[in-house]
Amino acid sequence: MNETVGRRGFLGGLVAVGAFAATGCSYLSGNGWDHRVAQLSVPLTRPPGGARRIGAAVRPEHLVAGTAMAALVSRQCDFLVPEFHGQWSAVEWERGKPWYGNLDAIAAFARAQRKSVRGHALIWEKMTPKWARAAMLEERDWRIVETHFASLLPRFADTDEWIVVNECIDTENGEQNLQRNSFQQAFGNGYVARALETARELAPHARLLINDYSVEYSNPIDEARRTALLKLVERLRHDGTPLDGVGVQAHLELAKGPVAARSLAKFFDELQQMNVDIAITELDVLEDHRGAPIERRDARVADAVDRFMDVVNAQTGVSSLATWGLSDKDSWLQERAAATRSACACSPIDCAGMNRGLPYDGELMPKPMLSALTIA
Ligand code: G3I
Repeated sequence: MNETVGRRGFLGGLVAVGAFAATGCSYLSGNGWDHRVAQLSVPLTRPPGGARRIGAAVRPEHLVAGTAMAALVSRQCDFLVPEFHGQWSAVEWERGKPWYGNLDAIAAFARAQRKSVRGHALIWEKMTPKWARAAMLEERDWRIVETHFASLLPRFADTDEWIVVNECIDTENGEQNLQRNSFQQAFGNGYVARALETARELAPHARLLINDYSVEYSNPIDEARRTALLKLVERLRHDGTPLDGVGVQAHLELAKGPVAARSLAKFFDELQQMNVDIAITELDVLEDHRGAPIERRDARVADAVDRFMDVVNAQTGVSSLATWGLSDKDSWLQERAAATRSACACSPIDCAGMNRGLPYDGELMPKPMLSALTIA
């Protein structure tokens, strides 16, 4: 066996071949898909009693009744994460004129399917409307933030988990390792705790998380970010700030080599010792090159996920795992290159031309990554 394929990659290859000898992307089209997808979608293996929850980022267009994608979401996910439509910019582009149509659609689908929703994300600089950033810096009035929270949390009272602060760590240009964003500049580093306290007041029964990225690899930046995130959690814990979990985004990148298994395990252990849940929140894989045959590429992606899952599965503190989408064609990673963008835009779509970093390809065919997501 080729050493780069690895154990899981080989097994995973059987999953794909066993399901279909996929000779191209549009292997099946038309109504055949609904039937096929029902057969194809391989339920992720859950631990006895289904202790760990499996979810995925979704958009309203993925949830249209009667479509293969909606059937797949329904079969694969215990919970849903609005990929974009829960962001402040997406619900209140203009001050005082909130619109929740897309978020309502996702919540309605989840309710109908008896699935939970993870709210994503109450605070994220990148998706904070321009008017809000200007107002906070000018008025320095926490009620601007509170009003945003108060418009969402009671409306989606059955959302049982919220990413309260997304991507606040910055070890290169931050203020005491916190990103100098509008919230930090207007309210100081204490805005993280304040946001968690405000969320707890408005959603006393929801689990509250902070969520960050680049903590998975052996490099100085990831190491510094792991340390900074641990220090932040330690401080929040010391001050008695409400915090139920830490989200690790897990945007894996093949170019970065294998995940830092020992450092990551130590990081997870230290979080667990501080009695916070760990959520894998946005798992996907960025390929380093796309020239090899599909089988080889998919096996390398599966192998990277498998190594990551070996660390995850050794942890009792990891309570959930979400992939950042289910099908390659919807992955934000396609935006990273013109070639992958056009692979999604052509007709029929070019599954081989896409970044293949999610469990299903552009035509919802399962890939070896799916079997690598088997959680113990
Ligand atoms: O839906 C509109 C569409 O109607 C319009 O024609 C199009 C024009 O640009 O925009 C579409 O909205 C886009 C949206 O994704 C839905 O596709 C927004 O422009 C675009 O900014 C938005 O990007 C999202 C990004 O976060 C910013 O919110 C990505 O989908 C989403 O994958 C990405 O997810 C983030 C996590 O929230 C945090 N961690 C990193 C991760 C990847 O950046």
